[in-house]
Amino acid sequence: MTPQEEVRTLDRPRLTLRAEGHDRDPVEYSPPMEPVRVRQATPGDADQLRTFRCASGPWYEAEVETFVQGVLADHVAQGFGALVIEDAGEVVALLAVIPQPFPGGGEGTVIELAAGAVRIDRQGTGAHGSSLSGSLVSAAVDEARASGHVGCYAKVALENVRVRRVLERAGFRAGPVVSDPRYAFYTLNLRA
Ligand SMILES: CC(C)(COP(=O)(O)OP(=O)(O)OC[C@H]1O[C@@H](n2cnc3c(N)ncnc32)[C@H](O)[C@@H]1OP(=O)(O)O)[C@@H](O)C(=O)NCCC(=O)NCCS
Repeated sequence: MTPQEEVRTLDRPRLTLRAEGHDRDPVEYSPPMEPVRVRQATPGDADQLRTFRCASGPWYEAEVETFVQGVLADHVAQGFGALVIEDAGEVVALLAVIPQPFPGGGEGTVIELAAGAVRIDRQGTGAHGSSLSGSLVSAAVDEARASGHVGCYAKVALENVRVRRVLERAGFRAGPVVSDPRYAFYTLNLRA
């Protein structure tokens, strides 16, 4: 199944968002009960990425937002790969997927999950296994496996407990980043 065909149904309760340590007012959000479609980004999505907001304070979220609005928007404009979830004509979540040689020179190719982000007003709208970021990671893993890649990896900030939870739930395992102890290197072996 390709990501374009992927349809995942989420249970999205009404909620008030007030993430820990965040200095913004809570966001009231009453999400629609409809299937979530994961599709490939197109160059036409680039303009929305240039103003995409996903950070609410911590340095590691600001880092991702800057990457999405700059480097990723440029890459998407040029046709590079990313997965997106759209709602009412707007991109509400995205995940950059970049094919890479196997780290360290091993056989096969892997997929780097370079940046995953959910728009600020849509974060936390999944419940117990159904977050938007979880849908994107699972679509990326399915596509990587179907395309014959032998694994996936992502470098994420150790402090970023939410993305770590999403990756661990998808079966990724954490290892250290020797050159920068602020990060963990998450890998998923698809050879089995
Ligand atoms: C990381 C991000 C994509 C996750 O968004 P999301 O899918 O809406 O995430 P949720 O708020 O649903 O949280 C994901 C999981 O972490 C859990 N979680 C939330 N806060 C937590 C906390 N303080 N401690 C531990 N777990 C927590 C949630 O319960 C959920 O797990 P569950 O589905 O098993 O219940 C989103 O926070 C984001 O866009 N952040 C800014 C960009 C960023 O940091 N991206 C990571 C790049 S590598």
